[in-house]
Amino acid sequence: MDAQAVSELRSRLESFQQGHLLQFWEQLDDVQKQSLFDDLSSIDLRKVTDYYKRTTRQTGGGGGTERSDESLRPVPDELSGSVSRMKSDEQGHYNTLGLQAISEGKVAALLLAGGQGTRLGVPYPKGMYDVGLLSSKPLYQLQAERILRLQHLAKKQSGVDCTIPWYIMTSEHTKGKTEEFFVQHDHFGLNASDVVIFEQDMLPCFAFDGKIILESTHQVARAPNGNGGLYQALGTHGIVTDMRQRGITCMHVYGVDNILVKVCDPVFIGFCQTKNADCGAKVVKKAFPTEPVGVICQVDNHFEVVEYSEITLQTAEKRRADGQLVYNAGNICNHYFTTDFVESVIDQYEDMLSHHVAKKKIPSVRADGTLYKPSVPNGIKMEKFVFDIFQFSQQFAVLEVLREDEFSPLKNGPSAEKDSPQTCCQALQSMHYRWVLAAGGKFVDGAGSVRPLIPPLSPSARSQSSECCEVSPLVSYAGEGLSEKVAGKSFLMPILFDADGMDLTSGDGVQVKCISNGNGSDRGEPAPKASRLA
Ligand code: UTP
Repeated sequence: MDAQAVSELRSRLESFQQGHLLQFWEQLDDVQKQSLFDDLSSIDLRKVTDYYKRTTRQTGGGGGTERSDESLRPVPDELSGSVSRMKSDEQGHYNTLGLQAISEGKVAALLLAGGQGTRLGVPYPKGMYDVGLLSSKPLYQLQAERILRLQHLAKKQSGVDCTIPWYIMTSEHTKGKTEEFFVQHDHFGLNASDVVIFEQDMLPCFAFDGKIILESTHQVARAPNGNGGLYQALGTHGIVTDMRQRGITCMHVYGVDNILVKVCDPVFIGFCQTKNADCGAKVVKKAFPTEPVGVICQVDNHFEVVEYSEITLQTAEKRRADGQLVYNAGNICNHYFTTDFVESVIDQYEDMLSHHVAKKKIPSVRADGTLYKPSVPNGIKMEKFVFDIFQFSQQFAVLEVLREDEFSPLKNGPSAEKDSPQTCCQALQSMHYRWVLAAGGKFVDGAGSVRPLIPPLSPSARSQSSECCEVSPLVSYAGEGLSEKVAGKSFLMPILFDADGMDLTSGDGVQVKCISNGNGSDRGEPAPKASRLA
């Protein structure tokens, strides 16, 4: 790095109004100078400043795209399905089709795990977070075990061994720790070669005046380029080629933070295939008209997720004759794409996807060189969204699912009222409690009286009340296979229906562990600590 190279860099920065990035140059030592020089040289200034201009112009500096409500229509009925309105044989049919595709090795899981998780605020990837379950399983493990169980169910149906490759998109913040975690846990029983971890790109963060932010005197503030950075990353890292080599024809794409996520749900796969969809989305009904959730709508001749801030209250409150909201398809980051569709996006459309503005509190350096963490947003991150490719779909499909069975995201830390570790824990345990009841089991209290059918409100296994019921994903993916274990039996809580450790993939041996704080036992076959019902 000679004086000439630095001078050239300085002129280039100045020509893009970014000369301030060298403001601390004279105070830096040689190592810091080299690091800043390399950091700045790696930035395509024309490209990123263009992104900034385009993004802020389109959104007027912060909100959503301007669009009139007149151009919106709800998703047409013929493209939609609903698990709550589906007859059980129809659901069974989709399930069979989905398992068939899985058994033929055509289905992959694609996890979006590159987010910084700033609201949760832990110094490690969200997927490693333990929300407080009896089993202490982190999110990554729950998902891995759902994949194992599905492989088992697909084999049971078809008689052939199969695998579901799991592609995990990480970012600079999450890649190393995620890789270590999977190795440490022996990939949770999956084949290491079926877990493919790759990294999305990062972009510089900008202050509101269009200047790139310095995170320290010798480092630019960068952030992952949004979950829609997926398509660029899939191309750069040859992931679609890998999918093609493995014979993958479709994938389930989802966010890391939804504790209830049904990874590669065969019903969803079978449904989308029956609709001949190249792109599909699961949605939940909005809880109330102004719920801050994106809604899937038809806009002119294509589909889009319209943010809650982009429609008027009047439109948000519109109801159909049956009382349901017209714009009710709440997006939950749970998508089906064919490999052909993703490939067409990478080849033809990726460049057309524009970034969105996310106003954030970005740790920065002051003019005197000291660091600070702002308490209010001081700049923007530019993010693409995974769902922005809906507009390119030739055949779209939407499946409405039940929020209580499929959507409970971990966004915030323990003190939050909403989307917290406690709400996630509660959602999973309530669902498992309902599974046991539906399979013919009962819950009793210490005196032997039958407990109410409504799941108890125990926010975490580590709480005082600890009235928890947890079913290992290795035992049941969606409530199946429990009746032979629990029908006619009564159980005390806390209780964990765990897999027989001998063969994680068989799922046939079930161990009922009564997690005792002295009093737990299952009444079907009493035992102080653990008993086998299989
Ligand atoms: P969120 O938008 O909720 O962001 O991501 P986040 O990073 O988890 O949390 P905050 O906003 O910083 O608090 C939704 C999903 O998209 C993934 C996340 O990992 C999560 O699964 N994501 C987000 C990415 O994979 N890459 C990104 O650049 C952003």
